[in-house]
Amino acid sequence: NKRVKVKELLASEATGQEVIVMGWVRGFRNNQFIAVNDGSTNNNIQVVVELGMLDEETLKRITQSASIKATGTLIPSQGKGQKVEVKASAIEILGDCDPEKYPLQLKNRPSLEYLREIAHLRFRTNTFGAVFRVRHALAFAIHKFYNEKGFVYMHTPVVTASDAEGAGEMFRVTTLPFDNPPRNEDGTINFKEDFFGRSTNLTVSGQLEGELAAMAFSEIYTFGPTFRAENSNTARHLAEFWMIEPEMAFYDIEDNMNLAEEFIKYLIRYVMENNREDLEFLAQRLAEEEKQLPQDKRSEMGLIEKLEFVMNNSFERITYTEAIDILLNSPAYKKKKFQYEVKWGIDMQSEHERYLVEKHFKKPVIVTGYPKDIKSFYMRLNDDGKTVAAMDILAPGIGEIVGGSQREERLDKLTERMKEMNVPADEMWWYLDTRRFGSVPHAGFGLGFERMVLFVTGMTNIRDVIPFPRTPKNAEF
Ligand code: 4AD
Ligand code: MG
Repeated sequence: NKRVKVKELLASEATGQEVIVMGWVRGFRNNQFIAVNDGSTNNNIQVVVELGMLDEETLKRITQSASIKATGTLIPSQGKGQKVEVKASAIEILGDCDPEKYPLQLKNRPSLEYLREIAHLRFRTNTFGAVFRVRHALAFAIHKFYNEKGFVYMHTPVVTASDAEGAGEMFRVTTLPFDNPPRNEDGTINFKEDFFGRSTNLTVSGQLEGELAAMAFSEIYTFGPTFRAENSNTARHLAEFWMIEPEMAFYDIEDNMNLAEEFIKYLIRYVMENNREDLEFLAQRLAEEEKQLPQDKRSEMGLIEKLEFVMNNSFERITYTEAIDILLNSPAYKKKKFQYEVKWGIDMQSEHERYLVEKHFKKPVIVTGYPKDIKSFYMRLNDDGKTVAAMDILAPGIGEIVGGSQREERLDKLTERMKEMNVPADEMWWYLDTRRFGSVPHAGFGLGFERMVLFVTGMTNIRDVIPFPRTPKNAEF
């Protein structure tokens, strides 16, 4: 099979060599010029058929999204905007596509909302072609980054009995029969008889298992799907999302911040160097989308400019207490522009986070030293007894993109926090064992993969950066 991918063809020297192209028809002009795409790039290869070469019947079957195999020779193109084209010697229709029934009409510029309803076909658009190639590149760069640093990739379980975040946002996993589940005396379902005789759920985070591995390999990372049963219908939340969670022994909160910043910059640099064409396409798309917005809602920088800026400037680092002071002294606060209350102790809302990054600092911000009461039990208590060694990274246009902390490595302090927060210490004996047997200072964080893809692609809805979004009422395929 001499099939050559379109991207490779477009970069080839045309010397009349024989080639085979297979792909989907993106356009057909003058019964002569077929634009073929195979997903390797947004650019199409032009396949030229000589007039009279194909019969009427075949010509009619060359419709948008029909799949074809074209055999021919690669020659320099006369047309503008393309270096090469395929002069066809044979065209074979592999699969017809009835234009009357096909729901994706590219000519009419389908909206992103409409494309979400036909998510099975949206891969065939330029926007989603670019988004998912960039998503792929980011996934690859994640492994490359940690591999170069000698981190071990750890697979953590999807089904687990623990609630890593202690936030109770879990999807239950059960083997109980739906129609006749075992019941307690009061008639309620006896979930104790779930999986292996105990209640299980889909993981909300691989962190706790990651910590176990870091206590032997020193530096590990996880990269897998995580699940949150939060019923939030926002442009930033999914019920199923992917998370990268590095966990490092012998790191303190400072080392943790440094790694997270280096990691984010590395990912941006990787796609800037390897996915330039797709990023430029997405930058153009974003610019056009923003033209519809009122002036004050538009970004100050284009996508490429923004990525360059983030890559080349240090993130701002402030404490939670400083963040609250900035908010309290902001014109937005004085003009009562915030919907939610601002005072020390609040869990900052996205309007607050976005004020800090978009209006005040105009760059990514790392916030440390959060009040202990709004953070998870495993975060290390600071000497003030009020705050923990937490760090969140806030990104322009996104809000929280990373959440992490130095972990509480002192057994007595940890068990005390667990008691205060009603985390069942007896069920977590395995986690506490790491603090009993050779405990060390350690730290880690979680980067929300889709939020990173949003940031890099300039897309604005998280449903548009994961192939099959799981959101409330959205699980058909
Ligand atoms: O802040 P979170 O909940 O932190 C953890 O899960 C820790 N165990 C991480 C760690 O220290 N190892 O989540 C981490 C990140 C968030 O900053 C956000 O980017 C993303 O995961 N995230 C979501 N992304 C999409 N949809 C959701 N529902 C998300 N919830 C969190
Ligand atoms: Mg968080």
